[in-house]
Amino acid sequence: REHTFIMVKHDGVQRGLIGEIIRRFENRGFKLVAIKSIQATRAQLEVHYEDHKGKNYFESLLGYGSSGPAIAMVWEGHGVITAGRSILGATDPIKAQPGTIRGDYATAIGRNVVHGSDSEKAAKREIDVWFKPEEILTWHRAGAQHLHDKYNE
Ligand code: GTP
Ligand code: MG
Repeated sequence: REHTFIMVKHDGVQRGLIGEIIRRFENRGFKLVAIKSIQATRAQLEVHYEDHKGKNYFESLLGYGSSGPAIAMVWEGHGVITAGRSILGATDPIKAQPGTIRGDYATAIGRNVVHGSDSEKAAKREIDVWFKPEEILTWHRAGAQHLHDKYNE
Protein backbone atom coordinates (compact mmCIF):
# COMPACT_ATOMS: atom_id res chain seq x y z
CA ARG A 1 0.00 0.00 0.00
CA GLU A 2 1.46 3.33 -1.10
CA HIS A 3 1.13 6.21 1.35
CA THR A 4 2.06 9.88 1.25
CA PHE A 5 2.13 12.53 3.94
CA ILE A 6 0.14 15.66 3.09
CA MET A 7 -0.04 18.62 5.44
CA VAL A 8 -2.25 21.69 5.17
CA LYS A 9 0.25 24.18 6.54
CA HIS A 10 -0.76 26.93 8.95
CA ASP A 11 -1.28 29.43 6.10
CA GLY A 12 -3.61 26.93 4.42
CA VAL A 13 -5.61 26.61 7.65
CA GLN A 14 -5.77 30.41 8.00
CA ARG A 15 -6.88 30.71 4.37
CA GLY A 16 -9.76 28.26 4.94
CA LEU A 17 -8.43 25.76 2.42
CA ILE A 18 -8.61 22.52 4.44
CA GLY A 19 -11.79 21.31 2.74
CA GLU A 20 -10.60 22.33 -0.71
CA ILE A 21 -7.36 20.39 -0.33
CA ILE A 22 -9.10 17.27 0.99
CA ARG A 23 -11.66 17.54 -1.83
CA ARG A 24 -8.94 17.51 -4.50
CA PHE A 25 -7.42 14.30 -3.13
CA GLU A 26 -10.84 12.67 -2.63
CA ASN A 27 -11.97 13.64 -6.12
CA ARG A 28 -8.85 12.07 -7.57
CA GLY A 29 -9.85 8.79 -5.94
CA PHE A 30 -7.27 8.66 -3.18
CA LYS A 31 -8.12 7.25 0.23
CA LEU A 32 -7.73 9.17 3.50
CA VAL A 33 -6.25 6.76 6.05
CA ALA A 34 -5.22 9.22 8.81
CA ILE A 35 -5.97 12.84 9.70
CA LYS A 36 -5.49 15.08 12.72
CA SER A 37 -4.94 18.71 13.64
CA ILE A 38 -1.47 19.36 14.98
CA GLN A 39 0.33 22.16 16.74
CA ALA A 40 3.81 21.49 15.39
CA THR A 41 6.76 22.06 17.68
CA ARG A 42 10.08 23.42 16.43
CA ALA A 43 11.65 20.06 17.37
CA GLN A 44 9.18 18.12 15.19
CA LEU A 45 9.65 20.56 12.31
CA GLU A 46 13.44 20.19 12.57
CA VAL A 47 13.04 16.46 11.93
CA HIS A 48 10.36 16.93 9.27
CA TYR A 49 12.49 19.50 7.40
CA GLU A 50 15.89 17.91 8.16
CA ASP A 51 16.97 18.11 4.48
CA HIS A 52 16.66 21.92 4.68
CA LYS A 53 18.93 22.44 7.67
CA GLY A 54 21.39 25.25 6.91
CA LYS A 55 19.19 26.90 4.28
CA ASN A 56 18.47 30.62 4.75
CA TYR A 57 14.72 29.92 4.99
CA PHE A 58 15.11 27.13 7.60
CA GLU A 59 14.35 29.43 10.55
CA SER A 60 11.13 30.62 8.90
CA LEU A 61 10.06 26.99 8.30
CA LEU A 62 10.42 26.40 12.04
CA GLY A 63 9.08 29.77 13.17
CA TYR A 64 6.06 30.07 10.90
CA GLY A 65 5.42 26.32 10.95
CA SER A 66 5.11 26.31 14.73
CA SER A 67 3.03 29.52 14.89
CA GLY A 68 -0.38 27.84 14.70
CA PRO A 69 -2.29 24.70 13.86
CA ALA A 70 -1.86 22.60 10.74
CA ILE A 71 -3.66 19.51 9.43
CA ALA A 72 -1.64 16.33 9.02
CA MET A 73 -2.92 13.58 6.73
CA VAL A 74 -1.89 10.26 5.25
CA TRP A 75 -3.35 9.49 1.82
CA GLU A 76 -3.24 6.07 0.20
CA GLY A 77 -3.35 4.93 -3.40
CA HIS A 78 -1.40 3.71 -6.40
CA GLY A 79 1.01 6.48 -7.40
CA VAL A 80 -0.22 8.78 -4.62
CA ILE A 81 3.28 10.17 -3.88
CA THR A 82 3.90 11.37 -7.45
CA ALA A 83 0.27 12.31 -8.12
CA GLY A 84 0.12 14.17 -4.80
CA ARG A 85 3.08 16.29 -5.86
CA SER A 86 1.32 17.19 -9.10
CA ILE A 87 -1.92 18.02 -7.26
CA LEU A 88 0.14 20.43 -5.10
CA GLY A 89 2.04 22.07 -7.98
CA ALA A 90 5.51 23.64 -8.05
CA THR A 91 7.14 24.70 -4.78
CA ASP A 92 7.22 28.33 -5.94
CA PRO A 93 3.57 29.27 -6.51
CA ILE A 94 4.61 31.84 -9.12
CA LYS A 95 5.76 28.90 -11.25
CA ALA A 96 2.90 26.58 -10.28
CA GLN A 97 0.40 25.76 -13.02
CA PRO A 98 -3.21 26.87 -12.66
CA GLY A 99 -5.26 23.83 -11.66
CA THR A 100 -2.77 22.90 -8.96
CA ILE A 101 -3.41 23.87 -5.34
CA ARG A 102 -0.45 26.24 -5.22
CA GLY A 103 -1.14 27.57 -8.73
CA ASP A 104 -4.73 28.35 -7.76
CA TYR A 105 -4.28 29.68 -4.22
CA ALA A 106 -0.73 30.75 -3.35
CA THR A 107 1.68 33.49 -4.33
CA ALA A 108 4.71 33.09 -2.05
CA ILE A 109 7.14 30.19 -1.64
CA GLY A 110 7.14 30.73 2.14
CA ARG A 111 3.31 30.57 2.22
CA ASN A 112 2.63 27.78 -0.25
CA VAL A 113 -0.34 26.33 1.66
CA VAL A 114 0.44 22.64 1.59
CA HIS A 115 3.21 20.06 1.98
CA GLY A 116 3.58 16.75 0.18
CA SER A 117 6.23 14.00 0.48
CA ASP A 118 8.61 13.93 -2.48
CA SER A 119 9.69 10.24 -2.37
CA GLU A 120 8.81 6.92 -0.79
CA LYS A 121 11.64 7.35 1.70
CA ALA A 122 10.49 10.87 2.65
CA ALA A 123 6.88 9.68 2.96
CA LYS A 124 7.86 6.92 5.40
CA ARG A 125 10.03 9.27 7.44
CA GLU A 126 7.45 12.08 7.55
CA ILE A 127 4.53 9.77 8.43
CA ASP A 128 6.69 8.50 11.26
CA VAL A 129 7.28 12.05 12.54
CA TRP A 130 3.59 12.92 12.76
CA PHE A 131 1.69 9.65 13.30
CA LYS A 132 1.83 6.54 15.45
CA PRO A 133 1.48 3.33 13.41
CA GLU A 134 -1.92 2.57 15.00
CA GLU A 135 -3.27 5.93 13.77
CA ILE A 136 -2.97 4.78 10.14
CA LEU A 137 -6.22 3.00 9.36
CA THR A 138 -7.02 0.28 6.88
CA TRP A 139 -10.40 0.42 5.19
CA HIS A 140 -11.99 -0.73 1.96
CA ARG A 141 -13.35 1.91 -0.35
CA ALA A 142 -16.65 0.79 -1.84
CA GLY A 143 -16.41 0.53 -5.61
CA ALA A 144 -12.61 0.62 -5.57
CA GLN A 145 -12.53 -1.80 -8.51
CA HIS A 146 -14.16 0.91 -10.64
CA LEU A 147 -11.60 3.48 -9.58
CA HIS A 148 -8.48 1.54 -10.41
CA ASP A 149 -7.71 -1.64 -12.36
CA LYS A 150 -4.99 -2.56 -9.85
CA TYR A 151 -7.24 -2.45 -6.78
CA ASN A 152 -7.85 -5.91 -5.39
CA GLU A 153 -7.94 -5.34 -1.64
P1 GTP B 1 7.04 20.80 0.63
O1 GTP B 1 5.96 19.95 0.06
O2 GTP B 1 6.52 21.85 1.59
O3 GTP B 1 8.23 20.02 1.16
O4 GTP B 1 7.55 21.68 -0.57
P2 GTP B 1 8.48 21.21 -1.76
O5 GTP B 1 8.89 19.78 -1.60
O6 GTP B 1 7.77 21.60 -3.01
O7 GTP B 1 9.72 22.13 -1.52
P3 GTP B 1 11.02 21.86 -0.66
O8 GTP B 1 10.95 20.54 0.03
O9 GTP B 1 12.19 22.14 -1.53
O10 GTP B 1 10.93 23.01 0.43
C1 GTP B 1 10.17 22.84 1.61
C2 GTP B 1 9.49 24.14 1.92
O11 GTP B 1 10.47 25.11 2.24
C3 GTP B 1 8.72 24.72 0.74
O12 GTP B 1 7.41 24.26 0.66
C4 GTP B 1 8.78 26.20 1.04
O13 GTP B 1 7.72 26.58 1.90
C5 GTP B 1 10.08 26.37 1.75
N1 GTP B 1 11.10 26.83 0.81
C6 GTP B 1 11.79 26.10 -0.09
N2 GTP B 1 12.66 26.87 -0.78
C7 GTP B 1 12.50 28.13 -0.29
C8 GTP B 1 13.10 29.37 -0.58
O14 GTP B 1 13.97 29.48 -1.45
N3 GTP B 1 12.66 30.45 0.15
C9 GTP B 1 11.70 30.34 1.11
N4 GTP B 1 11.31 31.43 1.79
N5 GTP B 1 11.11 29.18 1.41
C10 GTP B 1 11.51 28.10 0.72
MG1 MG C 1 9.71 18.96 0.14
